[in-house]
Amino acid sequence: MSAALEPDGTYKGVPAYAYDNTAGGPVLSHQRRWDEIARAHSGFRSSVSRGYWVVTDGPAVQRALQDWETFSNKSVTALDPDPKFLWIPEMLDPPLHTEWRRLLGVEFSPKAMAARQTEVRQAATELIDVVKDTGGTEVLDAFARRFPTRIFMRLMGLPEEDLDLFLGWVHDILHLSFDQDPDRSRQLAAIQAASGYFEEQIAQRRRIPRDDLLTRAMSWEIEGKRISDRDMLAFCVLMFQAGFDTVPISIGWSLYHFANHPEQRRAIVDDPSLIRTGVEEILRVYSFVVPARKATKDVSIGGCPVKSGDMVMLPLAVSNRDPGRYEDPLEVDLHRQVTNHIAFGSGVHRCLGSHLARLELNVAMEEWHRRIPDYRIADGQDLQQTGNMYGLKSLRLEWPA
Ligand code: HEM
Repeated sequence: MSAALEPDGTYKGVPAYAYDNTAGGPVLSHQRRWDEIARAHSGFRSSVSRGYWVVTDGPAVQRALQDWETFSNKSVTALDPDPKFLWIPEMLDPPLHTEWRRLLGVEFSPKAMAARQTEVRQAATELIDVVKDTGGTEVLDAFARRFPTRIFMRLMGLPEEDLDLFLGWVHDILHLSFDQDPDRSRQLAAIQAASGYFEEQIAQRRRIPRDDLLTRAMSWEIEGKRISDRDMLAFCVLMFQAGFDTVPISIGWSLYHFANHPEQRRAIVDDPSLIRTGVEEILRVYSFVVPARKATKDVSIGGCPVKSGDMVMLPLAVSNRDPGRYEDPLEVDLHRQVTNHIAFGSGVHRCLGSHLARLELNVAMEEWHRRIPDYRIADGQDLQQTGNMYGLKSLRLEWPA
């Protein structure tokens, strides 16, 4: 069912587009489309499916993310205001959310992540060593997806041989467009398959505890009670999506960026201390997360007359690429002083894994460029990005063998 448009093509006086965020497109097309719309409007109505609001004013996006009382996380999928699944902690609101974050915060603190530095570096170097003498490879499969996933599986205590299984579920849960999965049945099937897997892992740990995050989480108390199997599952399903997809996407964009900017590549090879700012800048400029919220009351935001129960999409790119916020916003500047981007979100749901993500991204760039300092994008590729989370679909690089 499409939202009813008025004869002038608007919806309740607000510009309306059949804008489908889940459809793929040529490389960087999503980010550029956001720039274009943000230049013209502070918000619009997407007429896809039953319709939802989209805020394209950078400061308004950040304000909404920080106002959890008005913009609830009960649904975080613009196309699905009443989801049949729960992701913990992402789909909880305070005060329950706060309890989860307090416990999880210890596991993902800067100190806990710094203690993993050696292991993370070793995982990166092992994978890069496999490809470095080959003269070229599809880097997303060979490196970008395997590296953080391996770390994450170790952290959760999951068997590494199940990696390919996980990558398939992540694809169906996060990367299917509205056209490919109009009733979200494939997404739901993948969530159910992943849930079945985790149920088994949880049952195993109830029988024989191990030294891993899953086992530790089972002894936590929320609202004075041990966490139920149902909530453990909801936590696992979110963690594996959050941990499996985002870092690979960022590594893909980083290698794409440095392949296209040889002068910046040489600069980070000569002075690896520039990588830190480079990573932040790439997260900012190639911003790919598009949160959504469900309004708890009538509110006007970005010029949109939002009603209680409506879904509101809050693309981070419009803040991170906002010319009102950054000088030359679309440039990756290795010397930029201001790094207050919101690529990890803002407010109470700000990314739990940001310290791990930063560690992985910095290590990935350091170790890659130490071993493969000179590379380019192989000819003859039609570079496409996926919808929903804007990652590259594939990226083949070449270098002197
Ligand atoms: C470059 C990599 C990453 C980026 C850009 C990223 C981005 C984000 C963003 C924007 C949010 C907020 C979503 C919202 O407001 O609805 C978020 C939440 C979250 N992220 Fe990340 N993330 C990354 C890596 C990770 C990793 C590696 C993990 C875990 C191992 C992780 C775990 C989470 C969790 C659990 C949440 C939900 C937090 C909550 O609801 O309180 N993320 N992430």
